[in-house]
Amino acid sequence: MVVRAPTVAQERPDTLRVMSPNGTGVGSAIESSIVVASNRGPVSFDRGERGRLTPRRGTGGLVTALSGVFYRDDTSWVSAAMTEGDRAVALKGRAVTTDSNQRMRYVVIPPERYDGYYNEVSNRILWMAHHNLWDIPRSPMFDDATMESWDDFVEANRIFARALARQAGNDPVYLIQDYHLSLVPGMLRTLVPDAKIVHFSHTPFAGATYLAVLPDTMRTAILRGLAGADVLGFQSKQWAENYLLSARGLPELRVLRGGRLDVDGRTAAVRSFPVAVSAEPLRETANRPEADEVRSELREWAGDSKIMLRVDRLEPSKNILRGFLAFELFLRRNPSWVGTVRFLCLLSPSREDVPEYQNYGEECLAVAERINDEFRTKSWQPIEIRVQEDYAFAVAAYDLYDVLLVNPTYDGMNLVAMEGPLVNRRDGVLVLSRNAGAFTRLGRQSLGVNPFDLAETAEAMREGLEMPEEERARRARGMSRTVSAHTPANWLADQLEAVDQVRPPRRRR
Ligand code: G6P
Repeated sequence: MVVRAPTVAQERPDTLRVMSPNGTGVGSAIESSIVVASNRGPVSFDRGERGRLTPRRGTGGLVTALSGVFYRDDTSWVSAAMTEGDRAVALKGRAVTTDSNQRMRYVVIPPERYDGYYNEVSNRILWMAHHNLWDIPRSPMFDDATMESWDDFVEANRIFARALARQAGNDPVYLIQDYHLSLVPGMLRTLVPDAKIVHFSHTPFAGATYLAVLPDTMRTAILRGLAGADVLGFQSKQWAENYLLSARGLPELRVLRGGRLDVDGRTAAVRSFPVAVSAEPLRETANRPEADEVRSELREWAGDSKIMLRVDRLEPSKNILRGFLAFELFLRRNPSWVGTVRFLCLLSPSREDVPEYQNYGEECLAVAERINDEFRTKSWQPIEIRVQEDYAFAVAAYDLYDVLLVNPTYDGMNLVAMEGPLVNRRDGVLVLSRNAGAFTRLGRQSLGVNPFDLAETAEAMREGLEMPEEERARRARGMSRTVSAHTPANWLADQLEAVDQVRPPRRRR
């Protein structure tokens, strides 16, 4: 049957509304085409020599998590133009085809609004709130400038919602990603009332008390905006429950049993869908000749020392500073390890325009330097930091660790904790924060730590390095099997099936 293209009423831009007399919202989500929306897209363009635009893979956990998901070419992706190169591509008005054969279109947020939308609200407010990152006695302080940035955020979300509404033609399911686009589900619902919408949060979701630090307009708009979706997905149950707790406080959202919401006469499901990593491309990257070169380099660098590894964005929620301090404590308490273990830290630059990030990064590097100065010998230095954006290097390094440190203060999931055990060939031990979503999956085989407790973290480092071979092997096997058992395909299918449960497909004539 042919689904007639919806008509778009466009008297005024902000009342653009898609009418769907016989089309939108009738089909089954599991059979539908997909439109993904995320702030950062899977591809970004740099302007190289002679003005040529060269594509490169988008960075960060979200892109990594999603790039393993879509193999079919019925997915299109809508993302913000983040670089000058992206904007140039957007101006040409064409869709870009990605490596995995998806179409991607950029939306252009006016440059004067981008800073307010991305740096101020998304990164300095929402990211900080969801990861409990504020230094509460001093920050945040909200003022008129905050509300101006909030206007930018609202407008950017509106731009996304309109771009998505234009794709309503063949009744897709919309997968809207992360906190940058918290308002999009509600806005899209107004524009395309029958749309099938999933919102997925890759981050934690702030607890009710912490979320209440936000100005009330913001907090309410976010809770309501998300409720515009049919399915609100979170990385773990505790984040889903945090959302429901806050939603209980709003009269317009009625929380029903079983994680369901009654909103404007519709039902929405609030559930956890922990992301998965795609084993095959990861192992393929690990098996490339370039990875062999990295490994030879690292073997030479490590000599006879054991390797402790961390791979993170250089960012406050990753708890890099306490990681160094715990390592220092470990060396003090276990002098026999001085000279025989090296801590390799692969840190990729992140959100460098945000002052909190700059300060944190500088502090981390200074503390590592102090520790190195104190413990360094002629032939050995305890901490090696590489600040670089090099995914292939990190994947090659996964192969070689004896201990992998993943100690975020709070983390939605944490992909490194899952990628490492898939690639590692030394039966490496995972030291894992209990506040990472990944702990729900890997808690049994890892050494769990309270990320704020330096003594416990230092002790886990020792235990990991000294663990008998048999036990290491048993745990490593368990982690690899557990991670492999969860596939990106299932992650996606579970969300789509949840839409079909909430919105049983109408029979098409
Ligand atoms: C990581 C987080 C995602 C987030 C992304 C944004 O990948 O896991 O939740 O959306 O960072 O990072 P960006 O560099 O685009 O600000």
